[in-house]
Order: sequence, then structure tokens, then C-alpha cells
Amino acid sequence: MDDQLNNEVRAILARVETRLQDEVASSLPFLDIAAKHIICAGGKRFRPLLVTLCGLLGDANADATRAKVRPHSDSRERLIDAALVVELTHVASLYHDDVMDDADVRRGVPSANARFGNSVAILVGDYLFAHASRIVAGLGADFVRIQAQTFAALVTGQIAELRGPSREDDPFEHYYEVLDGKTASLIATSALFGGLIAGLDAPQVTALERFGRKLGMAFQLADDLIDITSAAAGKPQGTDLREGVATLPVLLLNQSESLTDKLLYERILGGLAEDEIPIVLQALQGHPVVARSREIISEWATAARAELATLPNTPARAALGTLCAEAASRAS
Ligand code: FPP
Ligand code: MG
Repeated sequence: MDDQLNNEVRAILARVETRLQDEVASSLPFLDIAAKHIICAGGKRFRPLLVTLCGLLGDANADATRAKVRPHSDSRERLIDAALVVELTHVASLYHDDVMDDADVRRGVPSANARFGNSVAILVGDYLFAHASRIVAGLGADFVRIQAQTFAALVTGQIAELRGPSREDDPFEHYYEVLDGKTASLIATSALFGGLIAGLDAPQVTALERFGRKLGMAFQLADDLIDITSAAAGKPQGTDLREGVATLPVLLLNQSESLTDKLLYERILGGLAEDEIPIVLQALQGHPVVARSREIISEWATAARAELATLPNTPARAALGTLCAEAASRAS
């Protein structure tokens, strides 16, 4: 990353980090601890990074001059607020998701439900979302509307996953709808927030939202593949198999000509016993569906990158391009 851009991004993300804890502080000691539990456990801060880079894309009509890397101090504060909104929304959704998945571990520490119980985890998720709502109010009505739509999309995606495809649904289309709702929506909103704060013109803002949506798809597809191929840092492996959720490699089994593959697909969908999980994981890990999944993830990342073509040719745009490659390579 360009040095000046790198410094600016680091400065913004450092402020986000401090404020994340300050914003959720509570005078009730137990709530204070529970609210900071997953925030303090770390995380990639992928969504704040995306807000920041999109917010530093620069003036649509300017050359890629170094001076453009540093935003006006007011828009810098707005970028920090927007980054807080998307990260708090994300963390809130993880508190709820871990209750739904009955997860034990998140970001390498006991999940909030494991440490404090389901009721507390749900309420603390609500509490974090309340703070995200408070902060987004300061950004204006358009941002509040987008945030509300994103919240609805997250819930819709999560419910669609929970319910599974109906008989008449194409399982692949259903899966993509789930991913678009539960993950790509908030990643698209992160890019959109950045673009709006940067003052990009309407077609560019729309391109940036499409970019975020496709990047979000690549990101979640990679996450789903990692759940099968490797013990990711801070997460248990095989969660989707345990839940009977068919993700990309499993859905590809169903498209195979081989009867053995189709039988494995049916077996996974029928629900696996705990002692079958390692055996099925091993079978999947050595299967060509893994290589095909990687190709599909790369295709989404490439499509995301292509959306950047009409955006100002600045160091931030180059960094966003790199982010696409990194999102895809996570799963390789
Ligand atoms: C993780 O999926 C879950 C999400 C990305 C979205 C969860 C959304 C909700 C629970 C809706 C409620 C939202 C709010 C804001 C309170 P995963 O289980 O595939 O990923 P994981 O491996 O990280 O658990
Ligand atoms: Mg989960």
C-alpha cells in the first residue's frame, strides 16, 4: 500500500479501535465486560478497513495527487463513525449468530453465549446494535435508512439459512441469496458508506456498492470453504456440516455426475452424527470440489475488482484491488 495512504488508514483504524470500546462502555460492570468481550478478542476489522479505503478514494474529478489521500477532518470523523457503525453491527450479529450456532469459540476466546449464557448474549447483541444505531444517526437520514435496510437483509439471510431451501428452490440460488443477505449486504454497505462520505458521484457510489456486494460474496464463500478445509484461527471446524447447512463444496457434490458424490451430498443433508464429521471433512478435503470452489471464489473476487474500473485511479483504488485478491486467497 502507498506509504501516505497506509499511514492515513492506520491512523483512522487506530481511532476506530479506541472508540469501539469507549462507545459501548456501560456503568453496569457486568454489561461493560460482556459488551467488550468479543470486541477485545480482536478480529480482522475488514469492514472498517473497507469503509476507510472507500472513503479515501479521492475526488472523482481530481488526479491521483498525494494531497487527495488526506481527507478533510470532518469527513475523517464521519469515516470513523461509519466504520464504528459497520463493525458494531457486525459484532452484534456475531453475538446472535453464536447463540443460533451454539458456538463455543469466537475469535479464539469463549463465545459470549458460552461465557455468559444465551440470554445475555442476545441482549448484549441488541445493546451493541443500539449503539451502532445511535452513532449512525449522527451521519444523517440516508445512512440511517441504509443501515436499517442492511439490518433487515442480515436477518433475512440468516432466516433463509435457518429455514433451508424449499422444494421448489434451486439450492444454489438459495445459497447465494443467503450469502448476499447475511454477509454481502453489510460489506456492500461498508463500501457504500465510504463512497458517500468521499463524495463520489451517484454512478460511482453504485459501482462501489456492487463492488462491496461481490467482494462480500467472495469473502463468505471463502469463509465457508475454510470451515471445511482448515482449522481457521479462533473458530471450530465443520460448523456448517454439523448444522446440516450445505455450502459451496457440498452443493457442488450434488452437481457431480458421480453417484458416490450424490450419496455423500444426501448424507450431509440428512444430518451427520458427531463421529461422522471428521470422516466427511476428510472426504471433502481430498475432493475436486475444493479446487472448483476456489475457482468460483476467484471469479467473484475478479468480478468485484472489475467494478473498480470507473472509480478515481488513486492509491486507495489500488489497495481495494489488492483486498479482492486477498479475500480470494484466504481460502487457498
Ligand atoms: C455468520 O455466519 C453470521 C452472519 C454473517 C450474520 C448473522 C446475522 C444475524 C444473526 C442477524 C441479526 C443481526 C444483528 C445486527 C443483531 P456463519 O455462521 O456462517 O459464520 P461464522 O463461521 O463466523 O460463525
Ligand atoms: Mg456461525
